[in-house]
Formats: sequence, C-alpha cells, structure tokens
Amino acid sequence: MGRDKILCVDDEEMIVDALKMELMSSLPENIVIETARNAEEAFQIVEESVNQGDNFIVIISDQRMPGIPGDVLLADLNKLVPDALKIMLTGYTDIDGIQYAINNAGLFRYIQKPWSREDLVLTVRQAIDKYNTKKELDEKTRQIIKMNEELERKVRERTAQLSDAIKELEAFAYTVSHDLKSPLRSIDYYSKYILEDHGSELSEEVRNMILNIRDICGNMFDLIDNLLLYSMTAKAQPEFAAVDMDVLFRTTFEEIVKPIKNRSIVFEIEGRLPGVTGDVVLLKQVVSNILSNAVKFTRNREQARISVKHSTDGNMIRFSVTDNGVGFNMKYASKLFGIFQRMHTQSEFEGYGIGLATVKKIIDKHGGDVGISSEEGVGTTVSFSLPLSTGKDSDK
Ligand SMILES: Nc1ncnc2c1ncn2[C@@H]1O[C@H](COP(=O)(O)OP(=O)(O)OP(=O)(O)O)[C@@H](O)[C@H]1O
Ligand SMILES: [Mg+2]
Repeated sequence: MGRDKILCVDDEEMIVDALKMELMSSLPENIVIETARNAEEAFQIVEESVNQGDNFIVIISDQRMPGIPGDVLLADLNKLVPDALKIMLTGYTDIDGIQYAINNAGLFRYIQKPWSREDLVLTVRQAIDKYNTKKELDEKTRQIIKMNEELERKVRERTAQLSDAIKELEAFAYTVSHDLKSPLRSIDYYSKYILEDHGSELSEEVRNMILNIRDICGNMFDLIDNLLLYSMTAKAQPEFAAVDMDVLFRTTFEEIVKPIKNRSIVFEIEGRLPGVTGDVVLLKQVVSNILSNAVKFTRNREQARISVKHSTDGNMIRFSVTDNGVGFNMKYASKLFGIFQRMHTQSEFEGYGIGLATVKKIIDKHGGDVGISSEEGVGTTVSFSLPLSTGKDSDK
C-alpha cells in the first residue's frame, strides 16, 4: 500500500511553507504533504510518487504562477491522477481560469487569496472525505463485480456439469436398452424353438406358458424400441423447414386408423391448419403420439370424436387435440410429460408412458410448450405451441 499524499503548488516559498504547516498541524499524521514551486516540479513529484505506488488525495495549486498557470497544471495533472481532488487558490479576477479548471480538471473548490485558515482546513477535510468515500465505493463496486463474475463462473460450471450428466444418462439409457435386446432375442428364439420342435412333447399348460413368454418378449421389444426412439429424439438436432400441419395431421391420422377395424371415429379439423417452422420428422412423432392416444383412449366409445383446433398468439401458434375418451382425474396428473408416467393401468390401456415425454422433448427443441387437460369420463385435450412459419415456402 502506497502512502496518501497532498501536493501544494505555489511560486512563493512563504505561501507553500505556510500551507504545509497549516495542513500538517490539522490533518492526520499519516498524510504526507509535498510542496512544489512551479508546474515542472509538481509534475516531477506526482510522476515519481505514482511510480512508487503513492496516492494523491488532494492537489492545491495557486492560479497565478510564472510559466504554466494553475488551471492548466491541474488539468494536465488530472490525466495522471484523476482521483485526486483539485483545489485552486485564486485572486478576484481569475474567473476564466476557474472555469477552465472546472471543465478540464474537475475542480473540487477554489479558495480566494488570502485564505482563512479555517476555510482552507475545512475545504481540504471535505476533499479527503470525498476521496475516501469514493475509494470505499469503488472498492465495494469492485467486490460486487468480482462476486458477480464468480457467480457467473459457478453457474457456467454447474450448467456444464449438469448437461454432461444428462448426456451421460441418455447415453446410458441408450446402451442399456440396446444391450437388453440381444438376451431378449435369445429368450424369444429358444421359446420359439421349443414350441416348434418340441411342442408335441409338452402339455397344453406348458405350451401356453411358453406362448406367454413370447408375448412378454414381444411387449419388451416394443418397450425397448420406444425407449431407443425416445433417447434418439432427446439427442436429435432439429432440421428446421416449413411444415404443413394440416397435411401432417390428416396423413398421420389416416396411417393410425388404417389397421384398426370395427371402430367409428369422427375426425375433424376446424378450418385449415397453418404452416409452422419445424422438423417434419420430429413433428410427425408429436402428432402421431397425440393422435394415437386420442384413438386409444376413446376405444370404449361407440362414437369416438377427435377434433383439432388452432389459435394464434403473437408469432406462436397453438394446436389442440380434443377427444371424448375416458379422460382422467387431473388431481393426480402432475407429471404426465415425464417418462413412464401413466394414468391408466396396462390392463385397461396398453402403453409405456413414453409418448407424451417424447412430445415434450420435441416441442422444447422447437421453443414451444405443451399442455394437457382432462375430465374423467368426458375427454381430454392435449395442446402444444410452435413458432409460426416465417417463409414463403410454408404452404408447400
Ligand atoms: N387422450 C388421452 N386420454 C386419456 N388419457 C391420456 C390421453 N393422453 C394421455 N393420457 C394419459 O397419459 C398417460 C401418458 O401418455 P403417454 O402417451 O406418454 O403414454 P402411453 O400412451 O400410456 O404409452 P406410450 O405412448 O408410451 O405407448 C397415458 O398412459 C394416459 O394415462
Ligand atoms: Mg401414448
């Protein structure tokens, strides 16, 4: 830590000595009082002190000096020691100099000669107070900036750790699902082999058990494929292009109901659905999951109804699919967009609880949001929002 200093500049030796004596007798001892007889000497003292690491709190200069006048000296010193408070000793006719020093040296005060001792000491004390307050404030600001930087660094670090952990978990889920397939294939293969080559040697009961094993294997293959699709979706980088949602909803619905027999389903789209900007492959998964659910959960209705609507909100567009199916009690449906969350048992309605989780992942990637509302025995509405198509190719 350098020393705190005050510099007094006057061409009259008596005056600088008097200044020094008065300040020394009334200011704290740790403050060093330097004196100079002209601008050159003042510059030299300031430069040397600054190089040694000392601080100038106050600089007091006479205005009228041979050579460089006080206002010009203070303005020049202001570039070297901007934090020091500058005081000028003036005569009655030095208005121009005062103005120059205010504009160019940030002059703190001027004191008219001859000064009164009280006035001088009071002014210098005020200058010291102001300097110290500013220093404390600067220090606090520095600390806050440092704390803020530290906080931002920690947030960056934690976010990176978190996204690494998520990636690892996704990779793990993918590997596990993938590796489960091979032993499952063996179980299925041996069961099939036993039934085909040794079926006649087995009792009816054992044959049924083995048929059950094959059924369970089939379900498990399905689950693993769904899981693999989910983790691939989680990793997928969307390729954005114009997507015609009207066509997407109609064709997907046709594909879903084609293999279904003996059902009466009224499917209606209100108006013509607009285009959006999105990844057509991923959005097809969204529409397919939502419509499959609507078809599945209206299974017990004599006349199933599925309707699609849209509404615009700024540059976002919201699509909603409503069905008149079994519905569920919203009280227990807090995390339906999380993986493996279901409101119905496997025996009532088959499924794994992966569909809506996939929908959410995909809509998140498109910057939209998802929602579900339902009433038991009345029906369900699932909705999602997407950015409106931006380009001319949206209606392709
Ligand atoms: N249209 C709907 N009507 C009634 N319940 C629904 C509807 N859509 C979703 N749900 C409820 O939300 C749960 C989660 O849906 P999700 O699509 O994720 O799983 P799933 O259809 O059971 O299985 P998966 O889609 O993985 O084959 C469903 O099991 C069901 O309980
Ligand atoms: Mg589903």
